[in-house]
Amino acid sequence: MKAAIRITRAIFGLIGLALIALGISFWSGHLLSLVRLHMMLGMLFVLCMWLLVVLAFIAGSARGLAVVVLVWSVIVPIFGMAQLRLLPGSRHWLVQAAHLLIGLIAMGLGHSLARRIAAPSATSPVRVATG
Ligand code: HEM
Repeated sequence: MKAAIRITRAIFGLIGLALIALGISFWSGHLLSLVRLHMMLGMLFVLCMWLLVVLAFIAGSARGLAVVVLVWSVIVPIFGMAQLRLLPGSRHWLVQAAHLLIGLIAMGLGHSLARRIAAPSATSPVRVATG
């Protein structure tokens, strides 16, 4: 279980960094031919979030946070797919900033969930479960 959490978290972290690096280069007008790759990596990023949610439910810990991660994992791709059509023109930077913020929050949530499942608190149901 711990290995699965560690591996998922490591992949999630690496993909997150790649998404930010690609995104920042798009922002500066570079590597625009890799937008599709960015979108595919974004889907893998979302899959890692789902995997962490499943691991949280199997471990029986941090269920509340797992639900928040699940909800956020739906917002990330919906906004990501829609963003090219939102607020075209001089205000588009607002959409871009929102997309980055949503992605950064997703990274924070995913890492927090992984930390919580790997080290359940003393009050976690996992510790008090019998049989
Ligand atoms: C399924 C998930 C995702 C999809 C579908 C997606 C899609 C896109 C698209 C279509 C662009 C616009 C490229 C352009 O302007 O031509 C973009 C840009 C960008 N993405 Fe993502 N993305 C996803 C996840 C993420 C995540 C998780 C992060 C950060 C952790 C991120 C960071 C960025 C940044 C910084 C940019 C450049 C600024 C911008 O145009 O918003 N993306 N993304």
